[in-house]
Amino acid sequence: MIKIRNDFPFFSGANPITEKIIYLDNAATTLKPRVMLDELLNYYQFETANIHRSNHHLASISTSKFEETRTALKCFLNASSTNEIIFTKSATESINLIASSLGKSILHPDDTILLSQMEHHSNIVPWQLIAKTTGARIQVVPMNDDGELDLMEYKKMLNERVKLVSIVHISNTLGTINPVAEMITLAHEFGAYFILDAAQSFLHEKIDVQLLDPDFLVCSAHKALGSTGLGILYGKKSLLESMPPYMGGGEMIHHVSFEKTLYNDLPYKFEAGTPPIGQVIAFKKSLEYILSIGLEKIQQYENALLSYATHALTQIPNLRIIGNAQKKSAIISFLLGNIHPSDVGTLLDKQGLALRVGTHCTEPLMTRLKIPGTVRASFAFYNTLEEVDSLKHALIKIQDFY
Ligand SMILES: Cc1ncc(COP(=O)(O)O)c(C=O)c1O
Repeated sequence: MIKIRNDFPFFSGANPITEKIIYLDNAATTLKPRVMLDELLNYYQFETANIHRSNHHLASISTSKFEETRTALKCFLNASSTNEIIFTKSATESINLIASSLGKSILHPDDTILLSQMEHHSNIVPWQLIAKTTGARIQVVPMNDDGELDLMEYKKMLNERVKLVSIVHISNTLGTINPVAEMITLAHEFGAYFILDAAQSFLHEKIDVQLLDPDFLVCSAHKALGSTGLGILYGKKSLLESMPPYMGGGEMIHHVSFEKTLYNDLPYKFEAGTPPIGQVIAFKKSLEYILSIGLEKIQQYENALLSYATHALTQIPNLRIIGNAQKKSAIISFLLGNIHPSDVGTLLDKQGLALRVGTHCTEPLMTRLKIPGTVRASFAFYNTLEEVDSLKHALIKIQDFY
């Protein structure tokens, strides 16, 4: 563990602010390893060049490094081709791309888009926008009070009118790991396309897209040791080929005249304009770093942290954990007595603990649970049991104070 923490400048003690902080807000964004930061700095200091445009030496270095990250992602997800990996700005933009491009082409009035009760706003609002323009409607797969999706109900909701199913793999609020393998198989039996929101699972679960078989997968690099401003969209090649471009601009074209434009091949058809080059190049280092530890090891360690933290927090009187699914990732949402989550967050911050409070961009989920929000501790493989103990003691102090 000490060795792993040494890989992150955040823990180096070199900064007077981070030195005093216990960071338990990994579902919002993860910390960044030195290898990724060094590569990012190297691009901006010594290898700055645009890609796929110029033919000078620096441009060919940055172009090949950029494409190497695409290859690394293809391997990471076991996609069948690099043409299936599209770089976007964020998971949010990836969903908007699918909703706008595919949604506009296949949805008709009274077609159905299936979402779940625990979706992030970024997997709700893009579908509402497209439902409005196409006349399609949104239906919501319900869940039980423990935060588990009702699969029986899901089966009943599937029919030939359902064209798209878009479901979160791991809930950012509850930590629930949804049974997406079964849900994907069922969706395909009815001819519906399945979009997997892997924003919270990319760093915490091994995903083999050929085995799991989603039609699309979305995630954000910043939630997996990468930088902000970079999203990933995986899509099956045949589908991406059939879809119209999402945005127009440089690089997504073969030929332009004022009369007519011929679009570029995959993946460039969906990558209009200058992409976040340094962020893409540096993300390869994040992927290599994750693989050097091993996703199974990460999962094992985080599961142990989750058990330890769940046990520690349930010992605090009047603390209620929100989300008690049987299959959970290392995210714990909770309420402390009647104290408003924002007040708990402020008092935790005063004791040096960084946790997120509020609705976590899942307002419909809060409405379903009839709560104003939660306090959320979200862990990563560099967190320690001692940090969990500190959280427990800080919460006991807050309770005593009240
Ligand atoms: C489950 C889930 N989906 C999508 C997103 C959107 O990610 P981004 O804001 O990086 O686009 C988030 C971010 O918190 C998330 O937790």
